[in-house]
Amino acid sequence: MNPSSVVRRLIQSVAVATSGVFLSTMALAGASGPLLPSQSNDAHLGVASCASAVCHGSVQAFPDSTVRRNEYAWWQTNDPHAQAYQVLYNDASKAIARKLGLSAAHEADMCLDCHADNVPVDQRGEKFQLSDGISCEACHGGAERWLSAHTAPDASHAGNLELGLYPTEAPVQRARLCLSCHLGGEDKLITHRIMGAGHPRISFELDTFTELQRHYDYDPDYSERKGVPDGVRDWAVGQATAARNMLGILLDPQHGRDGLFPELVVFDCHACHHAMSKRQWGRRDGTGLGPGVVRFNDAYLLMLRHIMSVVNPGIGQRLAEQTLALHRATTVGRQATHQAGENLLASVDAAGSALQAYRFAGDALDAILGSLIEGGIAGEYRDYAGAEQASMAVQGLIAAFERSGALSPEQIARLTAEMDESMFPAMDDEENYRPSVFVGALRKIQAAAP
Ligand code: HEC
Ligand code: HEC
Ligand code: HEC
Ligand code: HEC
Repeated sequence: MNPSSVVRRLIQSVAVATSGVFLSTMALAGASGPLLPSQSNDAHLGVASCASAVCHGSVQAFPDSTVRRNEYAWWQTNDPHAQAYQVLYNDASKAIARKLGLSAAHEADMCLDCHADNVPVDQRGEKFQLSDGISCEACHGGAERWLSAHTAPDASHAGNLELGLYPTEAPVQRARLCLSCHLGGEDKLITHRIMGAGHPRISFELDTFTELQRHYDYDPDYSERKGVPDGVRDWAVGQATAARNMLGILLDPQHGRDGLFPELVVFDCHACHHAMSKRQWGRRDGTGLGPGVVRFNDAYLLMLRHIMSVVNPGIGQRLAEQTLALHRATTVGRQATHQAGENLLASVDAAGSALQAYRFAGDALDAILGSLIEGGIAGEYRDYAGAEQASMAVQGLIAAFERSGALSPEQIARLTAEMDESMFPAMDDEENYRPSVFVGALRKIQAAAP
């Protein structure tokens, strides 16, 4: 994907959520929670079971309904997930399959597990079709037990959840779900071998990606049923969950190794993939590493550290120290890396728990934006992956300021112009990314910020 185009598309669709709210629906911060839709035993009945005109298959949104009811049409036309299976027939997929020695991408579980709702055959209902791609039930859970119950007059959200509807509204659980494909983990992973065959590089940000896939309205009845949405909270939770997944892959005895080397997909891609003639190495205090070393991709940890420096400075400090220790440990050996990774994982989980009880109000947004920008000016976004997350973060925070009404329309317009004219262009070409240009853009945003 081209991350800057994702960010740009988002900026055009001004978010309407209110900010500064509580986290009632957040489950425990760790990896625990209900089984993912791909893991539970409920049968998946197929998109056709949702798509009737009186259900979710209306052409227009219903004005008086709690939900839009045109979700199917929206999904078909706007949601890339509806095309995810078809993608496996395109030239890029054919080339990937050929290089990996697969007979066909659309028949390989390795691809189908993330590009379709690839539940076991005996869990597929009569109307189920693999070719529907990432369908409603791939996210909302197999509908076997809740399909008829959720339309009953006395249906409640809690009741639906009990019958196997997946809690997509809960940020931790949503993050687990999205990241199970948008990064991978225990049972599926885009390995460096898959990347090496040509799979696009992956980067995820929960708030941005949620907005891009929004087929529902944040109206008062939504808040009443599911809690008040908060993009900044989603961003924070997404960073904690992604950091957790990255460490989990590094520590996993099965996925963490690839022969002589560790699984490279959790390392900074551009640390290896750039021209030798560039002589572009420079020190980053946050890693403490010297030249010529493969770096763990700490982009999510970097964001989480800035968030926690405001939410809970003690944990923020620990994250900074333990990230440094992990980087150092990767130059020592496997055992040292494991120990450092475990220590860091405990702090990431502590961060996740602290975020549960936290309300992001105006002062905190200010402080987090300040910390993010200072970190950049201090040279922490030398790596493209860090800058990519920082740019999505800056954009999300400015959107939150806009929603809160704390800034004048002129201030917002100026910040938006600096993002469009300086920050996003600095991200356009990942192969020729220049950290100094990105820092210049951050300085302009700092000058335009209140
Ligand atoms: C762990 C999940 C996962 C696995 C495994 C996986 N993919 Fe993907 N794939 C994704 C995600 C997520 C994206 C979208 C990335 C983005 O845009 O951020 C993607 C994007 C792609 C794209 C680009 C799509 C486009 O619209 O340009 C192709 C092509 C592709 N995958 C092919 C494959 C093939 C072939 C396989 C099997 C060898 C495979 N993928 C395995 C998750 C996965
Ligand atoms: C990639 C994951 C994904 C897919 C695919 C998906 N959804 Fe959703 N859906 C979500 C998320 C995330 C939310 C917002 C959180 C919530 O309210 O549960 C949501 C919310 C909804 C809502 C609730 C709106 C409200 O006001 O409570 C409905 C209804 C819905 N989706 C229907 C569908 C239908 C029908 C399909 C298939 C045509 C579909 N979704 C496909 C992730 C997905
Ligand atoms: C079953 C695996 C799977 C799950 C679960 C999943 N995705 Fe995806 N997602 C994909 C794949 C594969 C693609 C690429 C599809 C394509 O290009 O045709 C994709 C593409 C996207 C894109 C478009 C990215 C771009 O580059 O334009 C967004 C946005 C997105 N997903 C958001 C989400 C969100 C939000 C969630 C969680 C609520 C989620 N996804 C859950 C597999 C998944
Ligand atoms: C430790 C160094 C290292 C890291 C880190 C690394 N790669 Fe690689 N990558 C390699 C090597 C070595 C090859 C094989 C090159 C060859 O065969 O000529 C390769 C091959 C590739 C190729 C195929 C290039 C080609 O010419 O066909 C792609 C694409 C790729 N990597 C993407 C990635 C992505 C995306 C990441 C980050 C998630 C990443 N790599 C991280 C070392 C690395």
